Amino acid sequence: MTIAPYPAARFRRLKSSAALRALSCENTLSVGDLIWPVFVRDGTGQRTPVASMPGVDRLSVDLLVEAAQEAADLGIPAICIFPYTDPALKTQLCEEAWNPDNLSNRAIRAIKAAVPQLAIMTDVALDPYNVNGHDGIVRDGVIVNDETVEALVRMALAQAEAGADILGPSDMMDGRIGAMRAALEECGFQDVAIMSYAAKYASAFYGPFRDAVGATGALSGDKKTYQMNPANSDEALRLIERDLREGADMVMVKPGLPYLDICRRAKDRFGAPTYAYQVSGEYAMIQAAAAKGWIDGAQVMAESLIAFKRAGCDGILTYFAPAMARALRG
Ligand code: PBG
Repeated sequence: MTIAPYPAARFRRLKSSAALRALSCENTLSVGDLIWPVFVRDGTGQRTPVASMPGVDRLSVDLLVEAAQEAADLGIPAICIFPYTDPALKTQLCEEAWNPDNLSNRAIRAIKAAVPQLAIMTDVALDPYNVNGHDGIVRDGVIVNDETVEALVRMALAQAEAGADILGPSDMMDGRIGAMRAALEECGFQDVAIMSYAAKYASAFYGPFRDAVGATGALSGDKKTYQMNPANSDEALRLIERDLREGADMVMVKPGLPYLDICRRAKDRFGAPTYAYQVSGEYAMIQAAAAKGWIDGAQVMAESLIAFKRAGCDGILTYFAPAMARALRG
């Protein structure tokens, strides 16, 4: 890097007009970078606002299909489905997770039938189906790893069978990527992609999401025996390397903005398709401050999303996806 001494170098020259600013712009965000996380509920014609996430609703399958069509019309390449599960269906062994006709799998089928060009990503974790609210099976107060992996494989195969394009294991159990990849190959789903939630932190930024999926009251304790310590960074690289070696096609860092250093290190080290999840708490903070008139919500949305591109991400899961897609259209 060579920088001439002042006044030969004046950094203001390339900022002096919109044209020169455009020419010297290093990163761009496009609609093709966006994955839209959505919440599905039961019923017909049902739309329930999520109080802690202004602008986000839980939709019944019929309305979700309409929303998926709108997303596709905006050019958004993928949505990611999260179910709000009837508490009566939650059990100790989480059997509803691999029911071929569970809410999530019904939503996948309906969207695939109506909007086949839209890629569908899923959540592979047991928390929506678990009486304990944990991502894994709990025995005597312990989240048991290997038994959970077997359950996750069943769940993943049911999602692939329903038509999912990208599986998103968000559970943080050890060995799940390799087990899922082997099962997918064996069952003829060789083109189903895996986006591993590889570096997922034990974060308080997930609070509003747990409201959205009805897991807030259900969760006993915390997720620190499987999700990462926010103080760690080298461990994230080891987890990402491990998941790539086990057959992940894409890797994710989660949450987003507080962990941009992890995105950059991961991209520099592995050069793999790298994504960040701008999670519910990040969305809620921006929406809350904007509603108070303390920040310009539209500008902060765009600035927060370009930050991910600058940090090396190939794409972003964000609740702002439709709003950002509309803003990019102008
Ligand atoms: C759980 C899961 C969580 C999120 C996605 N999948 C929450 C958690 O780990 O407790 C959070 C997403 C968000 O906050 O927007 N498998």
